Amino acid sequence: MTDLFSKFDPLIQQREDLLATGVTDPYNLVMEKVVSPTVAICNGRETILLGTYNYMGMTFDEDVIAAGKDALDKFGSGTTGSRVLNGTYQGHKECEEALKEFYAMDHAMVFSTGYQANLGIISTIAGKGDYVILDIDSHASIYDGCAMGNAEIVAFRHNDVEALEKRLKRLPPEAGKLVVLEGVYSMLGDIAPLKEMIRVSKEAGAMILVDEAHSMGFIGEHGRGVAEAQGVLDDVDFVIGTFSKSVGTVGGFCVSNHPKFEILRLVCRPYVFTASLPPSVVATAATSIRKLMHGSNKRAHLWENSKLLHKGLRDLGFTLGTEEPQSAIIAVIMPDLEQGAMMWEALLEEGLYVNLARPPATPAGMTLLRCSLCAEHSSEQVGEILGRFERAGKRVGIIG
Ligand SMILES: Cc1ncc(COP(=O)(O)O)c(C=O)c1O
Repeated sequence: MTDLFSKFDPLIQQREDLLATGVTDPYNLVMEKVVSPTVAICNGRETILLGTYNYMGMTFDEDVIAAGKDALDKFGSGTTGSRVLNGTYQGHKECEEALKEFYAMDHAMVFSTGYQANLGIISTIAGKGDYVILDIDSHASIYDGCAMGNAEIVAFRHNDVEALEKRLKRLPPEAGKLVVLEGVYSMLGDIAPLKEMIRVSKEAGAMILVDEAHSMGFIGEHGRGVAEAQGVLDDVDFVIGTFSKSVGTVGGFCVSNHPKFEILRLVCRPYVFTASLPPSVVATAATSIRKLMHGSNKRAHLWENSKLLHKGLRDLGFTLGTEEPQSAIIAVIMPDLEQGAMMWEALLEEGLYVNLARPPATPAGMTLLRCSLCAEHSSEQVGEILGRFERAGKRVGIIG
């Protein structure tokens, strides 16, 4: 018998080698208690959370929690069915209404996760013989959507408008083309030059999908994302998003003005062949989305936090993923996985949680300590975070 697990041996070895150094397993942390959007108890210690996607801090919003409890009482714990059978409740419709209003678009479709939204939309609209032109650093759910739909994948260099244009020009003019971009790239926290990319994509006759997972709620005047901030939202055919970041719960969606959009509800397999979100989840999502429409003060404070942390880390001597803060994600580049894991552990001992990210999730083989800020972090907490980075960085020898 061939052991089908033998292909994982190099990864098992790498993990064993890392743990043999005595470092705590960075992928096995348990949050014993969550006190607020910015504080949890980990290993018995009060820990500042700087590695969640809770950008707008909605997880403990009292209206959001009340809506979830109410829906749990009135509609039960789950729908036990697909959206196209018994799984569409009033709450799912209200959630889609909230999304249509939030984006000022004609159609909204809620999926069980953001991963499924990309998987479903991309695989359904781009099939065999069509081309998906994507940034090489695209999220796994985008690549998986292309694979599932059997479309031809044409990747271009990260955030390179010229490379995108060149690839587009080489494709048959009559072929179906979908350009897939992200507003914020989650590893380095950099944003895409959507305006130029959308211009060259339109010239080539391509449809455009933008995944705004890490920008919704925060970037743009109304929090609609990078396409809004760059004034090109009207040129985007499909916006994909998630409830697992700024919205503060779980779920995914696509919004669009395409006149035939609603047919997707019948043909999109990751929408049809899975159970719909529980009533409490869609109720929390709808409440949160409606509150995010009026979140400009929180957005302004989150920008302040991002600038403060970026400058502070740079002044301490850390190497960062972007020259300027471009989003709520600030990536600190580590020399290698071993030192990255040591620094991650030292920060945890200081009472600070960040994400340790490593290849293949990261670009160019980098090991990153990814810091994601929250609108509920106080300026004092950001100061405290910098103090902890300084002490841990000196202890591990990352900074002098
Ligand atoms: C760019 C991007 N798209 C989609 C997703 C998937 O979102 P979800 O967590 O809702 O499955 C993520 C999640 O990390 C993401 O970063």
